[in-house]
Parts: sequence; C-alpha cells; structure tokens
Amino acid sequence: QEHLAKGLPLSGKRVLITAGPTYEAIDPVRYIGNHSTGLMGYELAKKAASLGAKVILVSGPSHLSIQHNNIELIKVKSADEMYQATLRDYHLCDIVICAAAVADYRPKAVADQKIKKSTEEFTITLVKNRDILFSLGELKKQQFLVGFALETQNEVENAIGKLKRKNLDAIVLNSLNDSGAGFGELTNKISFIDKNLNIKTFELKTKSAVAADILNEIIAKIYA
Ligand code: CTP
Ligand code: CA
Repeated sequence: QEHLAKGLPLSGKRVLITAGPTYEAIDPVRYIGNHSTGLMGYELAKKAASLGAKVILVSGPSHLSIQHNNIELIKVKSADEMYQATLRDYHLCDIVICAAAVADYRPKAVADQKIKKSTEEFTITLVKNRDILFSLGELKKQQFLVGFALETQNEVENAIGKLKRKNLDAIVLNSLNDSGAGFGELTNKISFIDKNLNIKTFELKTKSAVAADILNEIIAKIYA
C-alpha cells in the first residue's frame, strides 16, 4: 500500500520505454526504415509520467515531441543505438515496455559514399539485428518486462510464443487485421496477455486511452 500513501500509483517507479522505428543506414543518404510514428510509445511515456513515474523514453526517429519534467528523452537512429541506450539504463528500472518497431535486419555494409546508380538489378545483403527485448528478458531481475507483438496471422499463438521466448511478464498484441489499429493510426485495438496466459481484449480507442489501459494492467500486476 506504499504507493497509495504517496498519492500516485507509479510514484518512486522508474519506467523505461522504447518507441518509434529504427533507421538502418545503406549509405550517407539512404536507410531502411518502417512506418512507425512512435505515437504508442510516446503516449505510454506521458501516461506513466502523469501517474508519478520517472520515465526514460528511448526513441527512434519520430516527428513527435515530448516535454515533461519526469521524462528523459534519448533519441537514437539504428537498432544498435537503441540496444546500447536501452541496456545502459535497464538495471535501474522497475517497468520496461518495448513499443519500438525495431528493424529486424540492417545492411551488412554501410557505403561511406552515396551509392551511384549502375546495373539494372541491385542487391543489398542484410544481417540480423540483435533482439533488444530478448536480451532484456535474459538479464531480467526486478523489472516487469512488457513487449508488443504486431501480427497478421495466428495472432494469439504468435504473441504467446514471443511472451515465452523473450521471458516477458506480459505482451500487448495488436493486430493489423483490426481496421483502425497500427502504424500511422491515432487509435489502436489491443489484447493484453500476461505470463499466466490470461488474455484481456480491449475496444478500439485512442492510443492515449490504450496507454492508460496498458499501464492500469501493469499496475494491477505489480501490486497484486
Ligand atoms: N524487438 C526488439 N528488438 C528487435 C526486434 C523486436 O526489442 N530487434 C521487440 C519489439 O519492440 C516488440 C517485440 O520485440 O516489443 C516483438 O517485435 P515483433 O517484430 O513483433 O517480433 P519479432 O520477435 O521481431 O518477430 P517477427 O518480426 O519475426 O514476428
Ligand atoms: Ca520484428
């Protein structure tokens, strides 16, 4: 009941959130990226701060801005930079939510000059990026660790697979099949799955309202 005495449910808690896409450089002017805007992660950061937490937001390239005394924004570009920044502060945190759309692969070599147009076909060899969330799962101590899963088929089964493989405490499933949910949308429709495989499905709502639902679920678990 210590948290109630302090007034806000996340007072005294440190929350780490990853958000946005990552950009994987091809040459000095080009990259491989994705359509994530970062909105879900930024809304989670704002809501956690308003609930009393000290928040570290590790964000890939995003046009969004955020200004709050209890939010430290760390901007990164590539998956590797996101990995470094996230791992650096992980040991301090009580709740960690990985909402970033991290590129699974990066170009094997980054050209140091702009690549010139030549042949009709052009191949870029990609190599796998480290899985940040998997690494956090391996190192987990006190942290309540939450991932996201974006699936287009066998959603629940795939999400549960990720929950187990990455040693998570919960996973947020959002399905692109639900219209009005996903990249570039202001709304999202999620299911929250805990490690005992209890599944709670929510209505389509604004990402701000979804952030509140996710944090309520986490708060209920950590004080259970
Ligand atoms: N994630 C991560 N680091 C990566 C890839 C993913 O931290 N290199 C995190 C995401 O932030 C998300 C979760 O892992 O919280 C699941 O991401 P997702 O792309 O759905 O799953 P993957 O494990 O990458 O599997 P796949 O893309 O093949 O479905
Ligand atoms: Ca992926």
